[in-house]
Amino acid sequence: MLPLAKLAALLPLLASQCMAQSFTISNGQIFTPGFAIVNAPQPGTPLGGDDLHISLDVTANGRLNLPPYVEDSPSQIRNISVFLYSYTTGRNFTVAHPSQGNDSAALGDIMAQEDGSTVKHINWKWPDCLIGDGQPRDLDSDRGIYNISIRQNFRLNDEDHYTIFDLPISVTNRIEDLGGDRPSCDELDNDMIALEDIDAASANAVGVLFAPGDSTQVEAVFPEDDPENGLGGSRREGTPADGLGGAGSLDWRGAARWACLAALAGALTL
Ligand SMILES: *[C@@H]1O[C@H](CO)[C@@H](O)[C@H](O)[C@H]1NC(C)=O
Ligand SMILES: *[C@@H]1O[C@H](CO)[C@@H](O)[C@H](O)[C@H]1NC(C)=O
Ligand SMILES: *[C@@H]1O[C@H](CO)[C@@H](O)[C@H](O)[C@H]1NC(C)=O
Ligand SMILES: *[C@@H]1O[C@H](CO)[C@@H](O)[C@H](O)[C@H]1NC(C)=O
Repeated sequence: MLPLAKLAALLPLLASQCMAQSFTISNGQIFTPGFAIVNAPQPGTPLGGDDLHISLDVTANGRLNLPPYVEDSPSQIRNISVFLYSYTTGRNFTVAHPSQGNDSAALGDIMAQEDGSTVKHINWKWPDCLIGDGQPRDLDSDRGIYNISIRQNFRLNDEDHYTIFDLPISVTNRIEDLGGDRPSCDELDNDMIALEDIDAASANAVGVLFAPGDSTQVEAVFPEDDPENGLGGSRREGTPADGLGGAGSLDWRGAARWACLAALAGALTL
């Protein structure tokens, strides 16, 4: 066990290392603060292959009609954008954005695709820097744990909302180079914004919507990197979440991760 004083010193780090997140799940569907319901992927899934596949029901399982909406309809989805980002790698890719053109590597307005279907399937070609197989092997790697960030602009009973739903996945399965036919990461990349500045908690004050009575709160814990592969240092300079600098930070982060797991194990046995 770590001495108490050391644990206390680690406390500020624990919050960033633990990444305990809670999801509202029913019948394999993940409910969000908005009309979109995630059919796939499930939180924490290792992904790879040719494309990132995301399946979203955009009608809250039939509670909302599909567009076109009557202009002053008190409830409607204005638009949905999706990003794939990681504070660990410092990457923030556009997956879908309503202002994106059709010839771009990112998708455009997903509400306009698959006309008449309540479920929108996002198939986004993994960009070049994610090519590889398995866990990230060096500090420069862009592979590893990411969040699929689903941003919903919608109106519910005459009130406008913009909510942020982050679904963690890991980009650790095999992604082939397709003979150079992958979009470039840099072309899809956006600036990173610090977690405090995004302030998802305030944005999501409306809460998770439309979850049925039989849904379950599932607590999930995601370590930032796989402790076994020895990674854990800041992989890139100056990403907002790093907060830690210098070579000595490796040990601290490792210790913090174990303290995190120990604290959670303790909480579970109480
Ligand atoms: C994923 O999102 C959560 C909160 O939404 C954040 O705490 C965590 O740092 C993010 N993970 C990565 C790898 O950026
Ligand atoms: C998305 O919807 C919001 C709210 O109506 C609007 O301000 C924004 O311009 C829309 N974005 C795009 C790219 O259409
Ligand atoms: C993309 O293509 C669809 C249908 O082919 C079209 O309706 C839409 O306007 C196009 N979007 C852009 C931004 O060019
Ligand atoms: C990613 O980029 C988008 C578009 O600029 C931004 O809205 C979003 O907040 C960024 N996400 C992070 C985690 O920085």
